[in-house]
Amino acid sequence: MMIPNQFYCLFDIVTLYFFFLGFLLLHTFASPVLQHCHHDQMDALLEFKHEFLVNEFNSNSSLSSWKTNSDCCLWEGVTCDTKSGKVISLDLQYIPLNNFLKLNSGLFKIQHLRYLSLRDCHLHGEIPSSLGNLSHLEHLDLLGNYLVGEVPASVGNLTQLKYLNLNNNKFTGNIHVPFANFTKLTHLDISNNQFTGEFPLVLLNLATSLSILAISNNLFKSIFPSDMSRFHKLEHIDVGGNSFFGPFPTPLFMIPSLTWVNLRENQFEGPIEFRNISSSSKLQSLFLSQNKFEGPIPKSISKFSNLETLFLSDNNFTGTIPISISNLVNLVTFDISQNKFTGPIPRSNLVKLQYLDLSNNKLEGEIPGWLGGVLELMLSHNSFSRFGKSLEVSDVTHIQTLDLSSNSFHGPLPHWICKLRPSMFLDLSNNIFNGSIHQCLRNTIVPLRALNLQNNNLTGILLQDLFVNATNLELVDVSGNKLEGKLPESLINCISLKFLNVRSNKIKDKFPSWLSSLPSLNVLILRSNEFYGPLYHPHVSIGFQSLKVVDISHNHFNGTLPPFYFSKWHGMTTLREEHQSYTVYMGYPAYGGFYRSSMEMVNKGVDTKFQRIRKDFKAIDFSENEFGGKIPSSIGFLKELRLLNLSGNTFTGNIPQSLANLTNLEELDLSRNQLSG
Ligand SMILES: *[C@@H]1O[C@H](CO)[C@@H](O)[C@H](O)[C@H]1NC(C)=O
Ligand SMILES: *[C@@H]1O[C@H](CO)[C@@H](O)[C@H](O)[C@H]1NC(C)=O
Ligand SMILES: *[C@@H]1O[C@H](CO)[C@@H](O)[C@H](O)[C@H]1NC(C)=O
Ligand SMILES: *[C@@H]1O[C@H](CO)[C@@H](O)[C@H](O)[C@H]1NC(C)=O
Ligand SMILES: *[C@@H]1O[C@H](CO)[C@@H](O)[C@H](O)[C@H]1NC(C)=O
Ligand SMILES: *[C@@H]1O[C@H](CO)[C@@H](O)[C@H](O)[C@H]1NC(C)=O
Ligand SMILES: *[C@@H]1O[C@H](CO)[C@@H](O)[C@H](O)[C@H]1NC(C)=O
Ligand SMILES: *[C@@H]1O[C@H](CO)[C@@H](O)[C@H](O)[C@H]1NC(C)=O
Ligand SMILES: *[C@@H]1O[C@H](CO)[C@@H](O)[C@H](O)[C@H]1NC(C)=O
Ligand SMILES: *[C@@H]1O[C@H](CO)[C@@H](O)[C@H](O)[C@H]1NC(C)=O
Ligand SMILES: *[C@@H]1O[C@H](CO)[C@@H](O)[C@H](O)[C@H]1NC(C)=O
Ligand SMILES: *[C@@H]1O[C@H](CO)[C@@H](O)[C@H](O)[C@H]1NC(C)=O
Repeated sequence: MMIPNQFYCLFDIVTLYFFFLGFLLLHTFASPVLQHCHHDQMDALLEFKHEFLVNEFNSNSSLSSWKTNSDCCLWEGVTCDTKSGKVISLDLQYIPLNNFLKLNSGLFKIQHLRYLSLRDCHLHGEIPSSLGNLSHLEHLDLLGNYLVGEVPASVGNLTQLKYLNLNNNKFTGNIHVPFANFTKLTHLDISNNQFTGEFPLVLLNLATSLSILAISNNLFKSIFPSDMSRFHKLEHIDVGGNSFFGPFPTPLFMIPSLTWVNLRENQFEGPIEFRNISSSSKLQSLFLSQNKFEGPIPKSISKFSNLETLFLSDNNFTGTIPISISNLVNLVTFDISQNKFTGPIPRSNLVKLQYLDLSNNKLEGEIPGWLGGVLELMLSHNSFSRFGKSLEVSDVTHIQTLDLSSNSFHGPLPHWICKLRPSMFLDLSNNIFNGSIHQCLRNTIVPLRALNLQNNNLTGILLQDLFVNATNLELVDVSGNKLEGKLPESLINCISLKFLNVRSNKIKDKFPSWLSSLPSLNVLILRSNEFYGPLYHPHVSIGFQSLKVVDISHNHFNGTLPPFYFSKWHGMTTLREEHQSYTVYMGYPAYGGFYRSSMEMVNKGVDTKFQRIRKDFKAIDFSENEFGGKIPSSIGFLKELRLLNLSGNTFTGNIPQSLANLTNLEELDLSRNQLSG
């Protein structure tokens, strides 16, 4: 009995011993991990906090954990070194600090900082020279503040920097000598500032370390260096939106690690060529838009088999699209719009292609079936005339946006249009499509936001139920055809409608007072049709709350308008600051593009095509009808009116006194009436 007891006892002692030893060990080795904050560091951090106006109301953090009675190594955004306990990292991104960085800021006393992010912190003013005191910094991120002035020379002391991001501030001056000290820098982003001068040759000192170089959207102006191949680790270079000039920098493309090149919006000129470039190029994205490049796309483009994005738009490129494009099997986005390319679209099968913009060239021939798989297809302003037979059998249901406007298509609307379910826009305007609008288009336009059939040769009766379920439509333009019948009553379902243009058809109908129930209708153009009868009926709504432009001229409207007729046209009565145009915005996934339709009105006596209609352009054109009686005095409510044309009617009596209220009026035409007084 004793033995086991003693045994147990012994065991307990042994257990206790090891337990105690373990505790000792734990204590000895674990205690430095507790990272007790150094007092001077805590004071510096608190000093820094109090320099700013951080509060919970404008931020999703108020640095509320930064309190004297706690360990500063555990504070939000603060990291200490595990051994020394000194603060080595401060990450305050997105916390609005709303102030200047002071020359003697507490920040500069945290001398061991290696990582500092003040991204999107609403900092103002200049960078104080004492930033150079943080000589251990490896990562400095000041993106998205309101910092101004030159980068101080003392930053040259930050010789350990690997990452420097000054993107989206208001810095000025050139990238000067101190940058030569950043020999460890791999990531440099100074885009979206107002830096000036020549291409910063000081960057050549960093050539062996840099992998990301972004200096886009500044005011740099000079010839672009020809020896960029020295940057032999470069992966990503963005110099877009400056004024660099000179020939295509071929040697740049010999850098084997290169994946992303943006030369967009500069003044590069001459042909592009890819001589001596290895076919194992990793290049994925190439942006050459908005330069003065010319000549053909070289066949050697096919070496870039990893290319996913290729923008060549807005240059002076010529020649045909080389068949070698079809080797770019990874291409997702291809934009060669606004050039002088000729000839047909080559046979190909770029199965990954989602966005294709060939608009504004001199391309011709047929639209091949393989394009049916593309999401956004922009083919306007060319001379395309036919659809390939294979389009009839290809799956076109993925097309979101189709722009075939201003080409030479003719004959009836193709049947494959019926299979489309585009959710963005369908633009077939300025062609010579003829025949009637198929009933099937009813299904096509259900998800659609903009339908443009302007200036074709379409005939037949407009289908009354064409717009049933088309609740997303913002723009409908069927002007410049020969359509007959009544205005489709199903338009009442288009609760998003902003712009309706049926100008120059043969529509024979009464005034569509019922459109007044559409809450967003801004523009209504019924000009040059066969509309007839009075505008006003007792008990029928007279309020078009959002209407800003109405043109019902050249019809057969008659009858009189009661004095209060315009009293509920609030879209023209309210004085508001509006500078945008009536555009129906459609985001392309590739870039922030938009779609717009044009509107024609008689302005200053000239038939003007308003490509963009200013939002403050408010107009009423009732000319060339058969209206009689007095001009309604409520016209004086429409304080924002710029154009009023009532000419060619039979209005009688005095010009109403209230017309004097229209102080924004730029054009007034009351001619050819029977006014007196
Ligand atoms: C804090 O706000 C920024 C910018 O508004 C946002 O990007 C970030 O996700 C927010 N963070 C949290 C934790 O909500
Ligand atoms: C920066 O460092 C210098 C000397 O190294 C020192 O005199 C100065 O006080 C420091 N500035 C700040 C704000 O800590
Ligand atoms: C920091 O840079 C300035 C100017 O470049 C220099 O005069 C100063 O000695 C440097 N300070 C340190 C601590 O290196
Ligand atoms: C470069 O760094 C050294 C310290 O390493 C410093 O003395 C020198 O002033 C710096 N040069 C510039 C131009 O800032
Ligand atoms: C291209 O390679 C050839 C020989 O392969 C060479 O003679 C020529 O200098 C190279 N051109 C460039 C621009 O490197
Ligand atoms: C294209 O070339 C013509 C002359 O051939 C020139 O007038 C025009 O400015 C050039 N356009 C661009 C974008 O370089
Ligand atoms: C459509 O135009 C073609 C010529 O392009 C013509 O042959 C055909 O008869 C026209 N159809 C209709 C319905 O007007
Ligand atoms: C439109 O069709 C008519 C026949 O309906 C034809 O006379 C006219 O030439 C066509 N317009 C165009 C531009 O082809
Ligand atoms: C319109 O919607 C109704 C109800 O969802 C549906 O029954 C009808 O088939 C739709 N019509 C068209 C043309 O999409
Ligand atoms: C308006 O025109 C219609 C024919 O479209 C006619 O029947 C009616 O009498 C006219 N009304 C007035 C007031 O002139
Ligand atoms: C008013 O309309 C008539 C007929 O449409 C037109 O001839 C005239 O030029 C217009 N007046 C102004 C000022 O635009
Ligand atoms: C015209 O303006 C005057 C003074 O601002 C106002 O009293 C009157 O009601 C206005 N008339 C109309 C019809 O808007």
